[in-house]
Amino acid sequence: MKILAIESSCDETAVAVVEDGVKIISSVIASSHEMHEKYGGIVPEVAARKQLEFMIPTLDEALSQASMKLSDIDAIAVTIGPGLIGSLLVGVETAKTIAATSGKPIIPVNHVLAHMYANFIVHDAVIPGSTRNPSSSSNTGSRLNGRDDKQDIQFPAISLVVSGGHTELYLMESLKKLTWLGGTLDDAAGEAFDKTARLMGFGNSGGLAIQNAASKHRESSIEDRIKLPRPMLDKDNELNFSFSGLKTAIWREWNKCHPGLDPGSPKKMDSGSEAGMTSMFAHEVQESITDVLVKKTIRAAELNNARSILLSGGVSANLRLREKFSAFNTQFPVYVPPVALCTDNAVYIASYAFFRGNQVPWDSVTAVPDLSVEEISQL
Ligand code: KG4
Ligand code: ZN
Repeated sequence: MKILAIESSCDETAVAVVEDGVKIISSVIASSHEMHEKYGGIVPEVAARKQLEFMIPTLDEALSQASMKLSDIDAIAVTIGPGLIGSLLVGVETAKTIAATSGKPIIPVNHVLAHMYANFIVHDAVIPGSTRNPSSSSNTGSRLNGRDDKQDIQFPAISLVVSGGHTELYLMESLKKLTWLGGTLDDAAGEAFDKTARLMGFGNSGGLAIQNAASKHRESSIEDRIKLPRPMLDKDNELNFSFSGLKTAIWREWNKCHPGLDPGSPKKMDSGSEAGMTSMFAHEVQESITDVLVKKTIRAAELNNARSILLSGGVSANLRLREKFSAFNTQFPVYVPPVALCTDNAVYIASYAFFRGNQVPWDSVTAVPDLSVEEISQL
């Protein structure tokens, strides 16, 4: 079954054609990311206008890369939420128009639940329009430090979806049966990375900028001056997260280290001690966030006698997070998609639609910006 999927929940406009939920035929992503740089964050109005502009060319390109016409497609999948209303509407109305005019079935998709299905994608070529995953021996979602045996992912699995807007833990008893176990009570882990990056003067480059800065940290190069909290780790049986206190602590410690410097202003890196301070700070932020994510996920796996762990969402691209999880690989096989399938794209939207989606009449599909990620419907 060939599904054409459309994703436009945030600032990306993505279209993919995927066969039987696992094989990428084409994947195209257009982003207005750079445009948001000067505003210090995503401006919903700007994002939606750009998506209107990008949607048809992206659709055309995805079909052309797949060497297909619309008539070759069996169903249309589309993200209906959660996300920005203006952005969602662009994708939803496009998908409805295609469905209504072509008579193809339409499958509405929950973006957050869909993230985890990136772990079930099989492909042996470089993903079109994406970068190769430097930490993986092949360009496929794979078991950390292990052979590429994701087809044998064992259930029950614990699935951590960790992105810019969400930090959620699910029990996955089968490809269809999902139960929400816990999530963030306030900010998402990706938001903590993104706000820190802005505070440190890295603009909108987010978690990747923190990861790159942290990789330059050498334990011996500077005496560690800050120690950040690991929120909620004392509550052993509680599978929720909280990152807003950490964000405040990060803000306080950064300002203490940089008295008089405006938050977010680029720093002069000519002094060795400033560069050392920046990498030390980024390192501690990354350690704190990843410690919490790993410990809570492992606890969830223990409590539910999980047979595997699946990571997904933009933050699961983080190399330090992957490294920490790989230490548990003998206890629980840990799976993670290649970097290009961690961040937003339409491939996993199609995969979710194939494995768990429902075909509905096109005129019943609407954008739902606050679509629940806890009350899991058959969506
Ligand atoms: O899944 P995603 O592309 O979009 C949402 O659905 O939110 O995730 C974006 C998030 C951002 O917060 C970004 O900073 C984070 O993923 N991210 C990373 C890395 N790459 C992207 N966080 C930490 N380390 C990375 N290497
Ligand atoms: Zn996402």
